[in-house]
Amino acid sequence: MNDAPDTTNEAALVKAEIFRLVERYAHLAHAPKPFNPASSPVPVNGKVYGAAEMVSLVDSALEFWLTTGRFNDEFEARLAQVTGGRYVLTTNSGSSANLLAISALTSHLLENPLAPGDEVITCATGFPTTINPILQNNLVPVFVDVQFPTYNIQAELIEAAITPRTRAIALAHTLGNPFDLGAVMAVAAKHNLKVMEDCCDALGATYNGTKVGNFGDIATLSFYPAHHITTGEGGAVFMRDSLLKRATESIRDWGRDCYCAPGFDNTCKKRFGWQLGGLPFGYDHKFTYSHLGYNLKMTDMQAAIGVAQLDRLEGFIAARKHNFAALQQGLARFAEHLILPEATPNADPSWFGFPLTVRPAAPFSRDALVAHLHKARIATRYLFGGNLIHQPYMAGRNFRVSGATPNADLVMTNSFWVGVYPALGAEHIAYMLESFESFFRAL
Ligand SMILES: Cc1ncc(COP(=O)(O)O)c(C=O)c1O
Repeated sequence: MNDAPDTTNEAALVKAEIFRLVERYAHLAHAPKPFNPASSPVPVNGKVYGAAEMVSLVDSALEFWLTTGRFNDEFEARLAQVTGGRYVLTTNSGSSANLLAISALTSHLLENPLAPGDEVITCATGFPTTINPILQNNLVPVFVDVQFPTYNIQAELIEAAITPRTRAIALAHTLGNPFDLGAVMAVAAKHNLKVMEDCCDALGATYNGTKVGNFGDIATLSFYPAHHITTGEGGAVFMRDSLLKRATESIRDWGRDCYCAPGFDNTCKKRFGWQLGGLPFGYDHKFTYSHLGYNLKMTDMQAAIGVAQLDRLEGFIAARKHNFAALQQGLARFAEHLILPEATPNADPSWFGFPLTVRPAAPFSRDALVAHLHKARIATRYLFGGNLIHQPYMAGRNFRVSGATPNADLVMTNSFWVGVYPALGAEHIAYMLESFESFFRAL
C-alpha cells in the first residue's frame, strides 16, 4: 500500500496558476512595441510570438521530459499536414536538416545511393549549409549560375552541367521563391537524378498549387528565428519514401539501427533477436549502428514552441505576402535603377525577404543605398554568401563550376534584401518606402 499523499490535484492547480502568470508576464514584458519613425528599428526578420508560445514552452519545462517527446510527436504530425510531407522528422537546425537529407541519399538502404566523388548540381548563390553537406559527404558540388529576378538557378544551364558522375540536384527555394520546379524535375527525370529541396526559407510556398518539398526526393525546413516559424534553433526533414525516412532517422539518432522513441524499448519486438554486421546473434538492437550517425534531435521544449507557432503560420504567410506586394508596388518607380524581384512562373512564393539588385549602370552603388537605409535603422542583408565559390572556406575544396557565373558575381556586389516579416506593418512599409524615396531624391 502506498501512503504517499496524492498531490495530482494540487499540482494541476499550481500549473494553471503558473500558466496564468506566464500569460500575464508575456503581455507585460513581451508585448510588441508601437512603431516610432524617429527611433524604431526595421529588422529584416525576427521571432513573432506571444503568450501561447511561452505557456507551451513552460508546459514542456514543467513536464521535464526534455528530450524528444509528446510535443515533438505533435509538432511532426502537424508539420506533415502543413507541408504535405508523408514523413516529417524534426532536427536541431536547418543546417542539420540539410546534412541529414544529403547523408540519407548516401544510405546503403537505398537501391542506388550517392557515392563519394558523385556530383551534385547546385546554385552558385545561396546559404552555405545548403551545399556544405555535399562536401561533408565527400560528394562534389557543381555550381551553376543564378538568374535575375527570381534569384534561383538558371534551370536551362543544368543540362550542360551534367556528366556521367552527376547523381543529384540540391537547391534552395531562394528567399521563399520556388525555383523552376517544372524544368528542374524534368531534367532530373531525364537523367535519373535525386533532388533535394531546401525549403528552409519557403515554408508555405507552392508551385502549380503543390507545396514545395513535395517535388524532389527529400526536403528541409529551418526554424531559426529568422524563418517563417521558430523553435529558437530547429529544423525538419520531410520525404515520401519510407527507406529515406528510416535512413534519415538512423543518421539523426546516432546511426542506430533501432527506431525506438527516446525512453522506449523493444518497439521492433526482437530487441535481442537480430543478427547484424559482425556482432553476435542477439546483440542489443538499441546499441547496433548501421549508419555513420550523429545526434541531431530536437528537444521537446523546442517542439513545444513550434506547436504554438503553427497556429499562427497562415497569418504569418499572408502578412509576408502582403508586405512583399506593398514593397513591390512602392518600389516599382525605381525600376530604372533597381532590379525588382519576381515570382518564378507558376509559383506562389512564401516570401522570406524582398531582394533588390542595383543595376550595374546605376549612378550609385549597392553599398551607398544600404548605408542610407542603415542610417534610417532599416536593416538589410546580402543574399547570404553571395557567389559561394568566392567564400574563403571554399579555397582548395573539391568543387566544379559549370560555365561562368556572372550573375552570381553581380549578386555578390549589387544585391541585398529587406524584410517582409509579419511584425512589419503598414507604418514600417510606408517608412521604408519613404527612406528609398529620400535616397533617390538626393541623387
Ligand atoms: C536556405 C537556407 N538553408 C539552410 C539554412 C540553415 O538553417 P539553420 O540556421 O536553422 O541552420 C538557412 C539559414 O537561414 C537558409 O537560409
